[in-house]
Amino acid sequence: MRAPKCFLVISLVLRCSFSIASEGMWLPLLLEKLNEKEMKSLGMKISARDIYSINSGSLKDAVVSFGGFCTGGIISSKGLVLTNHHCGFDAIQNHSTLEHNYIRDGFWAKDYREELTNPGLYATFIIRIDDVTKAVLTGVTPAMTESERQSVIDKNISELRKNVKKETHQESFVRGFFEANQYYLFVTETYRDIRLVGAPPSSIGTFGKDTDNWIWPRHTGDFSMFRIYAGKDNKPAEYSAENVPYVPKRSLSISLDGVNENDFTMVFGFPGRTTEYLHSEAVKQIIEVNDPVKIAIRDKALAVIDGFMRKDEQIKIQYAEKYALISNAWKKWQGEILGLTRTNAVARKKMYEAEFQKRVNASPQWKTEYGTLLSDLQTAYDELKPYGLANDYYLEITGKIELFSIARRINTLRILKNNGGKFDYSAALTKTRDSLVVFYREFSPVVDRQLFEVLMEMYVKDQDSRVVSTKVLEELKAANNDFKKWTNDIYGGAELTAGNKILASLEQNPADFLEKIKDNRVIVLYADMVDAYNRNVAGKLNEIQNRINILQRTYMQAQMAVMKEKKFYPDANRTLRLTYGNVKGFNARDGVKYDHYTYLDGVMEKYIPGDYEFDVPEKIRKLYRNKDYGQYGKNGRLPVCFIATNHTTGGNSGSPALDGYGNLVGLNFDRAWEGTMSDINYDPSICRNIMVDIRYVLFIIDKYAEAGQLIKEMKLVHPKKK
Ligand code: ARG
Ligand code: ASP
Repeated sequence: MRAPKCFLVISLVLRCSFSIASEGMWLPLLLEKLNEKEMKSLGMKISARDIYSINSGSLKDAVVSFGGFCTGGIISSKGLVLTNHHCGFDAIQNHSTLEHNYIRDGFWAKDYREELTNPGLYATFIIRIDDVTKAVLTGVTPAMTESERQSVIDKNISELRKNVKKETHQESFVRGFFEANQYYLFVTETYRDIRLVGAPPSSIGTFGKDTDNWIWPRHTGDFSMFRIYAGKDNKPAEYSAENVPYVPKRSLSISLDGVNENDFTMVFGFPGRTTEYLHSEAVKQIIEVNDPVKIAIRDKALAVIDGFMRKDEQIKIQYAEKYALISNAWKKWQGEILGLTRTNAVARKKMYEAEFQKRVNASPQWKTEYGTLLSDLQTAYDELKPYGLANDYYLEITGKIELFSIARRINTLRILKNNGGKFDYSAALTKTRDSLVVFYREFSPVVDRQLFEVLMEMYVKDQDSRVVSTKVLEELKAANNDFKKWTNDIYGGAELTAGNKILASLEQNPADFLEKIKDNRVIVLYADMVDAYNRNVAGKLNEIQNRINILQRTYMQAQMAVMKEKKFYPDANRTLRLTYGNVKGFNARDGVKYDHYTYLDGVMEKYIPGDYEFDVPEKIRKLYRNKDYGQYGKNGRLPVCFIATNHTTGGNSGSPALDGYGNLVGLNFDRAWEGTMSDINYDPSICRNIMVDIRYVLFIIDKYAEAGQLIKEMKLVHPKKK
């Protein structure tokens, strides 16, 4: 019995100690040094310099941060940008009216003149990345306090940015990597005239909606198209009718050949946030404490909203977006717990930590510097646990009850007004009013009342009473601790739910209104909840979290020194990264094995006539019946989506997926549910990113929308028919 146990331990340690091909979100400027060899061994045919070079147009010049929340790829010499439907959704929604319902029916501009402007939307190119670690950390000493350290760093950064070599229209920022052990400077170019060019109807662009979200096998045509406009000099310019389509340094060639199982792919984009180097205790708390409580709160909130959406058409329209947003993370966290549990993430982290500690103990110098790191982190996380839990309760609950959101906006405005000119009150007044106009349009007091009742019960009953607001307890007591009675009381007399009245008061006599409203019951109640949170939770939470951040910074540095054989990549931080892997199916669960590709046949298998999630447009059904796939089909079938081992996260939506030659083969938009723990503990056995096949995108543009003029702009290639 002993020998196999020993082998198991060794193989687990090896799996965590050595980097696994596929894992990692790599900095483009380090590819040549760190990754090129491995990428070539996995099937890449181009060089690292074809991907990132500052002297000639490289693939990085065809990738943009889309509005700061998604990624886009340049697919024509006239500035055409491809991103996801869910990334362009806000723009599509803003242009939609009852007569022109672009969400339901799709939108296709026939020429430049029909392309629609989107104030506020932008696209940022990365011109250059420099390692500025030395300059940023100059003058930093181990003896410094955190705030001394930070002020030296801030000064160095502002000095660097003042002297950075760049053109006048370009910008720069510096960001910390590896828990602020390294710093990189980015020179960027941001275009702010971004116009909507095309989007399929929701029945294609969000086919499967929440039911299929995070799920493989998938059949969603999750894409939309925009165009970057520039001034006559091709430089960034504010919107103007005189602006012209931007001519990019580089655009992506599009492959009509697709990819097969095991083919090399890479995804180039702007991943948002990962935490791959946590202490095992932190991972344990995510699995046992934080994810479960957030899921439980959202379970209740979603059940309430769903109940109303099912019986009321108006509420369905008002709450569809909110529901999708709440359910997106809710579903992801469930997959995360499942994946972390199934791959023994905590046990694996512990084994890794044991190996780390063993090596540290063997070196007198490391032992002095790093000897107590792990136990210090354990202690800090033990202390953090109750505050982390209270933080989740507070944020989740006050974030879902919209009466509090109204109270927060109005109270913030009131405080600004009394602040005596330090802030621009009149600008804030306009902004609050405008945001409330939009807010009330999508607000139903009936739904909110129900949310209040069930969520406030959790706030009071499921938490340690020491963190609960005393005002809440007093009010409840006055209502005989009957949540229904208390809720009816509050909503029965709530001024704040009457949108028209509030907006009129803010229009006619805002100063008076803000003065009177300060005694409003909900505002007073909410203020006490905020106060209770600040006093009982936030202070301590921040103090412990700051301690953890410092320990984690040292732990990161220590891991890089001690675990020499491991190849480290920095956690995602909304900067440009490349991830690579191979097209691959996976064993999702016991007895469930998934293919790597889906086809239009699968869309038809899921088709439910007239359904909110699974309807299919008649024209697609007809094209399917006639097998009219043009040059986009393969052996009589039309590819729709595929999966690979690329390590992606939120923010990678809309990222171009490229083949070994650097041609566009797909568009990243999601991950498979079983592997959403890739944000914390990537595992190549179950982590898969989901991409829509570029041939499906082209088929929709060409055959469905008959927007051949867009296809003509693109460069279509056949790399496999060389
Ligand atoms: N799960 C994907 C990503 O996190 C897609 C989200 C949009 N789709 C949806 N049905 N909510 O963000
Ligand atoms: N759907 C995500 C996004 O919007 C991508 C992911 O989390 O895999 O960025």
